[in-house]
Amino acid sequence: MEVVSRPALTASAPDVLEADGYLLGTPVNLGYLSGALKHFFDQIYYPSLDETSRRPYGAYLHGNSDAAGALRALDSITTGLRWRAVRPPLVVNGDPAKADLEACWELGATVAAELAPSDPPPTRTLPPSRALRRSGAPVLRRSRASPARRAEAPRSDARLSTRPSARRCGRGCGGRGGRYGDLMSGFRHVVMFVWAEGTTTGQQEEVAARLGELPGVIPQIRSYSLGADAGIGADNHDFVVVGDFASEEDFLVYRDHPAHRAVIDEYITPILAGRAAVQYEL
Ligand SMILES: Cc1cc2nc3c(=O)[nH]c(=O)nc-3n(C[C@H](O)[C@H](O)[C@H](O)COP(=O)(O)O)c2cc1C
Repeated sequence: MEVVSRPALTASAPDVLEADGYLLGTPVNLGYLSGALKHFFDQIYYPSLDETSRRPYGAYLHGNSDAAGALRALDSITTGLRWRAVRPPLVVNGDPAKADLEACWELGATVAAELAPSDPPPTRTLPPSRALRRSGAPVLRRSRASPARRAEAPRSDARLSTRPSARRCGRGCGGRGGRYGDLMSGFRHVVMFVWAEGTTTGQQEEVAARLGELPGVIPQIRSYSLGADAGIGADNHDFVVVGDFASEEDFLVYRDHPAHRAVIDEYITPILAGRAAVQYEL
């Protein structure tokens, strides 16, 4: 896996067209993406529109309190480009802790795993400190080199080899003290909803939109994934939320956070017919 890193101000449409996936980074200033990342999108939007549809991307945002506006902008731009988020954007508020840097590392690895060939090269890890860059728009590129050439690649090359199983297993694979050690520790909350008869698509989309804003306002959320059921199983639930936290305490902060409670009271409870939930340590 080859990683090409570009500052957002100089990343160009050819860089984007040539890459197979994207990892975007930005501070949150004045309620929006950095001017540099906005400039990046201005430059690449139309030249990339047709050719980069469905390509995977991840994004990390660094603010100090409220990333909601930046998240909205990012969502609308990447929806227009039809890029596919491998995870919800990662929001880091305040000084990045070790867990934040690890989450950034994992975000990059998840994008890379999307691009991994079926016979992936041997693992090589990127130190977490390299993952959080200011206004960078690093571009991940699937390596087209042969396995032999990959093995010879000089260490100074910015290359990222990803864990072959990351795509299948996600954070939970291995558990605490398992193959990925501390990286995997944390606390996961999974909740599924059944909507009441007569619930409209608009109401469901409103729930998704409101929940999707929570990572921007609740810094304890390490990663957050939500989605409507694909409709394959007749007795499935209708909607799922998977949230990862550094600890049970952080989960409880999320559970009781006023912004979360407001979404529950205003958007979920009125259309709720059934609920199932599990919390477990990773
Ligand atoms: C002019 C200005 C506006 C800011 N606006 C926001 C904001 O809207 N939301 C937020 O969460 N943080 C805001 N911040 C805080 C920065 O995002 C924060 O300092 C962050 O650490 C910057 O990231 P960086 O150190 O990676 O550049 C603002 C900072 C400045 C200087």
